[in-house]
Parts: sequence; C-alpha cells; structure tokens
Amino acid sequence: MKYKGIIFDLDGVICSTDEYHYLAWKALADRLGIPFDRERNNLLRGVSRMDSLEIILEKAEQSYTPKEKAAFAQEKNELYRESLRQMSTADLAEEVRATLDALRAEGVALAIGSSSRNAPFILERIGLSGFFDVVADGNCIAQSKPHPEVFLKAAAMLALSPAECLVVEDAHAGVEAAAAGGFDCAAMGDAHDDARARWHLHSFAELLSIG
Ligand code: BG6
Ligand code: MG
Repeated sequence: MKYKGIIFDLDGVICSTDEYHYLAWKALADRLGIPFDRERNNLLRGVSRMDSLEIILEKAEQSYTPKEKAAFAQEKNELYRESLRQMSTADLAEEVRATLDALRAEGVALAIGSSSRNAPFILERIGLSGFFDVVADGNCIAQSKPHPEVFLKAAAMLALSPAECLVVEDAHAGVEAAAAGGFDCAAMGDAHDDARARWHLHSFAELLSIG
C-alpha cells in the first residue's frame, strides 16, 4: 500500500446505511406527494441533509418555508435514526472488518470522512467507535461534499498531505470532493465508473491489492 492514510466515506462504503437514508427520504416524499425513486436517491449520496432535501423538493409542485423545510429534515432524520437503532455489530460485513484489520496491520492510518451528523452513532452501532484514528464528519464541517472540506480536515487530523492519502467513496459527489482536494480516490458502488477516480473497486477487499 503506497498510501500512508486512507479516508473512508461511511454511508455506502463501511456500511449499508445508504439504503436507510433512501427509505426515510422515500417515506417523506410519499407523504408530501413528491416523486422520488432510487435513481434520484443516487443524487443525494454524499450530500448534506439540507442539500438532500432541496434536491427532493426540486420535484415538488409547491414551495415551502424555511421552517417547514427544517421540520421535514427533522422528520426524515427521526425515521432514519429508527433504522439506525436496529443496527448492530452484525451490520458490519466480515469483508469490511477483515480488510480494515489487514490495512491497520500494514501500518496504514485509517480515517472516516463523512458528511453525516449521525456518523458517531452509526460507528457505535456497528462496533467501530474508537476504531478509526480520526473521524471527520458532518458535525465538524461548514460545506459538505462535493466540497473537499471533510477530506482535508481528516488528512490534517492525520497530519498527512492529500497526496499521501487515498479516499474511498461510493458517491459521485465524494469522488468530485476527493479530486478537488488533491486526493487519489478509489470508487465503488454507484460511483464505480466515475472517471475522476484513480481506482475502481468491485469489492471492498480489493483495497488490499492497490498500489
Ligand atoms: C452522507 C450520505 O454520508 O451523509 C447522505 O451519503 C446524507 O445521503 C449525508 O444526506 C448527511 O447525513 P445525516 O446523517 O447527517 O442526515
Ligand atoms: Mg456514501
């Protein structure tokens, strides 16, 4: 592994919370009579809660006040957190756990770079609280992906330069953020074919054969 540090996105990379995001947004959109499907959901990957809501409301037939929007975001988050509360260490795939352990054994610094404000809670649910060397998340940034702030913050916390780090992402917004910050990126899932990524992973374990 030629990288000294790896910065992982959380939702859709370390665990499958991206599906819970979709189900919670879908319930809200259905209640409001706004068209929303899995394809549109891909636009929300990596994007902050309020920016995600704005993307959903682009298809609404009426406009909403800032107060109504804040209530919608809260409603979605409560639904989402109900799903998170059901999660346990069984929701951390063995492949992910084994790969993280192998990278750590190689001496690679491991970080989280997520737009989510729920990141600490999710890490706790899947048994990874305290596992990563640093966690940069939605609670410590002003601009979410595709802005590179969260990755730059994670690299700074690791005391590494962007050139020394690899970002692992499942979102086009995240691949764009990595490129904007000067990071190499390994893309997987929805972003697998994104041409801005240096590496294209078919599985999480493929990280072990990079560089
Ligand atoms: C990102 C997800 O990790 O976090 C986005 O990919 C989500 O879909 C964003 O909107 C914010 O999450 P949260 O938990 O703060 O609402
Ligand atoms: Mg993601």
